[in-house]
Amino acid sequence: MLSCFFKLTPIVISFYTFGTLFHCLYISANQRPSIKATITRMSNTPAYYRLDGAASSLLLSNHTQVPAVAWLGDRLEADVDGAMLANHEDSALAFANLDARAPLDIFPQLSTGYMGSPALAGYRQNAPVAHSFSTKHIEQTGQLLVVVLEDVKSQLEVVQKIALDSKSDVCTVSTSLKNAGSTDYRVDWLASATLPLPNHFSDCISQHGRWGLENQSYRRAIGPGRIDISNQHGRTGHEHGPNLICASADLSVDHGDALFVHLGWSGNYSFRIERLHDGTAYLQCGVLLGPGEEVVAPGAVLTCPTAYFTIGHGLNQCTQRFHSFARQHILPAWTRTPRPIHANSWEALYFDLNDNDLKALVDAAATIGAERFVLDDGWFPARRTDEAGLGDWTVDKHVFPHGLTPLVEHVRSHNMQFGLWFEPEMVNPDSDLFRKHPEWVLHYAGIETPLARGQLVLDVAREDVSNYLFNCISSLVSEYSIDYIKWDMNRDLVLPGDGLSPRSSKQPQAVYALMQRLIDTHPTLQIESCSSGGARTDFGVLKQTGRVWTSDNIDPIARGTIQQGFARFFPPEVMGAHVGHKEAHLTGRSTNLHTRAIIALQGQFGFELDARVLNKDDVTTLHHYTQLYKQHRSWLSNAIYWQLPTSDNLLLASGLVSTSGEDALFSILLLDSLKTTRPGCQRLRGLAKTQRYRVSLASSNIDQLDPFNKAMPAWCRNSIVSSGELIMNIGIPLPVMPPQSAILVYCALEVN
Ligand code: GLA
Repeated sequence: MLSCFFKLTPIVISFYTFGTLFHCLYISANQRPSIKATITRMSNTPAYYRLDGAASSLLLSNHTQVPAVAWLGDRLEADVDGAMLANHEDSALAFANLDARAPLDIFPQLSTGYMGSPALAGYRQNAPVAHSFSTKHIEQTGQLLVVVLEDVKSQLEVVQKIALDSKSDVCTVSTSLKNAGSTDYRVDWLASATLPLPNHFSDCISQHGRWGLENQSYRRAIGPGRIDISNQHGRTGHEHGPNLICASADLSVDHGDALFVHLGWSGNYSFRIERLHDGTAYLQCGVLLGPGEEVVAPGAVLTCPTAYFTIGHGLNQCTQRFHSFARQHILPAWTRTPRPIHANSWEALYFDLNDNDLKALVDAAATIGAERFVLDDGWFPARRTDEAGLGDWTVDKHVFPHGLTPLVEHVRSHNMQFGLWFEPEMVNPDSDLFRKHPEWVLHYAGIETPLARGQLVLDVAREDVSNYLFNCISSLVSEYSIDYIKWDMNRDLVLPGDGLSPRSSKQPQAVYALMQRLIDTHPTLQIESCSSGGARTDFGVLKQTGRVWTSDNIDPIARGTIQQGFARFFPPEVMGAHVGHKEAHLTGRSTNLHTRAIIALQGQFGFELDARVLNKDDVTTLHHYTQLYKQHRSWLSNAIYWQLPTSDNLLLASGLVSTSGEDALFSILLLDSLKTTRPGCQRLRGLAKTQRYRVSLASSNIDQLDPFNKAMPAWCRNSIVSSGELIMNIGIPLPVMPPQSAILVYCALEVN
């Protein structure tokens, strides 16, 4: 029997990694004063295990009770051996402490004297609560280490799989716990990963936000006291992303050392960062469990979601590694192909749907270059507001008397794909489904679950619920040959239970499984993850989805930081980015059409506006950007992302460079008026130093900029040729830009 947080992932680990200067935190066996008896290294096993990536090495030492990360960072010379490394282990022991220094190993436990968050907290009736795991077996196959730990007294076995992806330099850790006893074992906490932090890592950067303002960075010192960033929203959430960076104080876009950690999980989780009193520090992450939520039956295995991490130099290097890893190992294959331009109906029509308006919207969207039309919320019975209808997944005959066929045919007549919005996990109390099956919602008997957006959450881990949803969605996908589903999830889970016991950790894997079943049945179907914007963005859901509706906020000024934060961990081609109305519906701010289009070009380009009301100039402008997107998208879906250092925080700049190095597009956004009269030069990144590039203004907004410039830098009007070295070191002179404007710079490799 397999009980798991995350059935679909074959790899889970709890482990330690290291940075560019990691001193092993453990004392070697012969130096260890008093607990030799607990050291169980088998004489025939190596003292160190080594994994190598293109630029990183990970060494696991095997001379403590449980293995420890001896090194994670830059790739070590091939001849570095265990004996040499042992000389660098921190063996100092202070007075007035335990007689032996407690290890900070890959599975830290309180029984060793370790005072941080243990890897496991659990309970078996009538048995000691303490654990004492030691190594049973370690096996290396290529770049994968499988470490088996056992605690004979507690009758528990832990398997940790630690892998280093040789191409991207991203490591994965997967942990599973087996109950080898004859009675239930209740798990209160099982860390997916525990990673020691290098001594010089003093800062921690987390990502926070709210609806309409996702992925905002927050940097703080790793000072005294444990930092606990816990998410209880039952989805990845707007409030805290499962993305964390620990870093040296000098970390910047280009410099300093950083550990990026991500937990691939769309439910509750906890990240713990702590500097212990002996100066060592660690980061730990795992699923946050409710009381009694995970009870592992005799013989059963509980598997944690995978944790992903890398240590590199500067934000960009770590970001690029994560993008490379996601493209190889996480995202569906279709994300590697040029992405079509979307037109979504939501902000154009909201719930006010009818065939004629929709067809007119399709016509207008086709004129500005849309290639996929997505019918958003409002197409099913009683869905005239957000108070009713969720759960009844049939086409509303009052709104669409002939079903969706006339609309779908119209969409196809423009050679466009058709997408449809669903919110499968949800139900309105005012729906036929709820009236028939009130017992299908997550709840606790006798406690009223608070509504959010007038809806409740279905217990998708129930087979009958998941079968119902599969049948509804699958038959519509077949009937209308739906190409694409916008899969929404618009509320937090509050006390998700089956009436009696917690169910929150069951929900994400049940949703992944439902998505996968649909994909298996309809192999060309593409799914987008939406959750009131970007509240479900993680490697767990991205395995099935491959595109995220980044935020409901499409104001380009707000999108600047939202998208920058998104791209820090996730590839930009996954990021749904649409051109919205002049006056953004979420902020009321009016922005120029060029700004909106340039920012949308940072991700998968599309429209979230009423294209019927665009004037001729707007259509011409949008036509320019859709052509630009189509011209470059073949390389954009694999582009290398560079955040650019800017001279002022009011300037946000980033670039996408083709893997061949032949093309690069850089967007520069000015959030507000600068204090200086001129913005100076903007240094670009990612070009080849010794090559020549033709630099031109790719955005068509010279007329917008002109009135603010007594003299405009030459390259804005006519392209110039310069060397990669100068473009990256001196930079290109920026025109004077009005507040809230943006420009797009194109660099093309000059042949000859
Ligand atoms: C959520 C999504 C929006 C839209 C609405 C429809 O808020 O984020 O894009 O689909 O639901 O109700």
